[in-house]
Amino acid sequence: MYNPRFSKQSQALHSADADVWAVSDRAHALANKGEDVIFLCVGDPNFDTPEPILDFARARLGVGRTHYSPAAGEAMLRRAIADIESKVSPHPCSPDDVVVFPGGTNAIYAVLSCLLNPGEQIVIPEPMYIGYVPITDALQLDVRKVACRPEKGFEFDIESIKQTISEETRVVMINTPVNPTGVMATPEQLRDLAAYCRERDIWLISDEMYSMITFARRHTSLRTAAEHLDNVIVIDGLSKSHAMSGWRLGWAVAQGPLVERLIEFAGATIFGVPQFIQEAAAFALEFDTYFVKQMREAYEKRRDLIVERIQRIPGLSCESPDAGMFVMVDVSAVAANGEAFAEALLDAELVSVLPGKPFGPSAVNHVRLTLAADEAELSRALDRIEHFVLGGCRKAV
Ligand SMILES: Cc1ncc(COP(=O)(O)O)c(C=O)c1O
Repeated sequence: MYNPRFSKQSQALHSADADVWAVSDRAHALANKGEDVIFLCVGDPNFDTPEPILDFARARLGVGRTHYSPAAGEAMLRRAIADIESKVSPHPCSPDDVVVFPGGTNAIYAVLSCLLNPGEQIVIPEPMYIGYVPITDALQLDVRKVACRPEKGFEFDIESIKQTISEETRVVMINTPVNPTGVMATPEQLRDLAAYCRERDIWLISDEMYSMITFARRHTSLRTAAEHLDNVIVIDGLSKSHAMSGWRLGWAVAQGPLVERLIEFAGATIFGVPQFIQEAAAFALEFDTYFVKQMREAYEKRRDLIVERIQRIPGLSCESPDAGMFVMVDVSAVAANGEAFAEALLDAELVSVLPGKPFGPSAVNHVRLTLAADEAELSRALDRIEHFVLGGCRKAV
């Protein structure tokens, strides 16, 4: 019999914590059996990709844009991304600062691969995006988490980040606006942290995947806020803002020496993102004002609906997030923790929400509700949540 042997990297991914999706896996199993499950656990926009982008992609397919493309990305897309960065920033951005990847996940994987060896230290504030865990596991990084405390609205605690940084730290990675909390770093926080990291020869990565889904105020990019750019990397993409999650299109913006490394890495691992997708992405970025605004307004209405309903349910509480696609609900007054609440809610009312714990210890008493469901669906789910809590959060028998 053949004895399959695998790399440490694959082993690390294989043994990673499977609990993260336990509640939602169970919800899918119930739905497959025909149960009327409402899914409030997904971060995938429930809008169709806008029709003009589809038309443009079809047209580019029609003229044969189906061949290899440069490892760094197509010139027109790199230019469109650089223009966006330059528009709001005191630092002009050149297409040479941009590398295109098939999705933000891949961009993050590539950046961390180029910056860190196994065992080296990265500092990340939590609650943090669940998707970082398999990446840092696969790269076998020493992850130091920094709490953003719920009693302070999960705001970034820059002093705690600084205190966690040590001689061993090679990279700090933040996410603004944050998935799951919707918190946005202020320009002052970003400038301060960038300078602090630069003085210590530490890279600072900012994942800005929700940069265009903001309600309270406009997003400030790390690249805009930082005084110097040599240690600064920004990651963004079209999955959320343009409802293009399945197109797999993201990018990293960095400076010369790292850009060279990223292009080499992309060349070795991806060998170019499909031409017609990159061209449709460039089109999307140039002509997006109308539909990005429409989606943002829809998310804002959904946020208001959830916050208003949750705040009326005795025992539940939530802040109104400034940005992003999620609302964090504190369930500590009615359940042992977020996980217990989510499990029992699914059993009793067939509503699937994500427990906070996988996002980090600071979110253990929370559950995450998505804005990626229309208002009718959200109202139905909130009726069920209200019924569940008013009934004492009991499981169905
Ligand atoms: C904070 C954050 N970063 C990155 C990603 C990954 O995005 P992509 O679809 O571009 O891989 C997500 C997706 O949910 C996210 O929430």
